[in-house]
Amino acid sequence: MFGQITKKLKDAKRIAFVTGAGISQESGIPTFRGKDGLWRNYDVMKLATINAFYDNPKLVWEWYNERRKNIFSAEPNLGHKAIAELEKFVEVVVLTQNIDGLHQKAGSTDVLELHGSIVKIKCSVCDFKSEILTEFTDMPPLCKCGNILRPDVVWFGESLPKDIWQEAMIHASKCDVMVVVGTSLVVSPANTLPIYAKQNNAIIIEINPDETIMSSDMDFSIRSTSVMALPEFVSIFK
Ligand code: APR
Repeated sequence: MFGQITKKLKDAKRIAFVTGAGISQESGIPTFRGKDGLWRNYDVMKLATINAFYDNPKLVWEWYNERRKNIFSAEPNLGHKAIAELEKFVEVVVLTQNIDGLHQKAGSTDVLELHGSIVKIKCSVCDFKSEILTEFTDMPPLCKCGNILRPDVVWFGESLPKDIWQEAMIHASKCDVMVVVGTSLVVSPANTLPIYAKQNNAIIIEINPDETIMSSDMDFSIRSTSVMALPEFVSIFK
């Protein structure tokens, strides 16, 4: 599968993965833009913007509660596990757009959650942040300060947490190889990470059954699912 570049890959010391919804698709979590994608069946403007949240916090919370149930019943697949195993052989960082926590569940120890996490909450006004420990009885749940609590995720129109983004850019500019897995690369700023990596001479590889808008910028593309391709990618370093 990786035939022509296997030799070059063997010299890599630092590998950064940029992952998206596609890597969890084989764990039973739907993607956003594929044929059964969430944004084909739900209106993003009513569920994933701050205005939608202020218009109808109960609806947004109910949607996230449903997603949390689905995510909690999911297990990491062979793709997540392969990335975790790769830590035995080289330095690995995972820059994920996913909020499902499956990379950590698979054993990856260096994961930056660019878009937040399904298990985290924060106050829409004060600095309070926490993890969800039990399901809320009141909907929408309120912070001790009296304002509405919200999922600690990055919605459309919002910026990524500054510290996380800066760290992600440092990893992108330091890695020898960047593997872009299961993302359509249409969402900014995560889709600029391969550009930073390329500017710093990293080899850029895409693993995706379909072409993306950045496929032509890749050094190498594998048209396969992450469960098929990642164990083979990792076997190169064993
Ligand atoms: N293995 C690898 N890739 C896959 C698989 C699979 N089994 N199944 C689907 N894919 C690919 C699709 O071809 C597609 O290119 O995964 C990609 C999923 O793209 P999106 O649904 O757009 O998901 P993503 O890129 O993660 O979306 C980015 O958009 O709505 C926001 O915040 C949300 O983090 C998300 C962001």
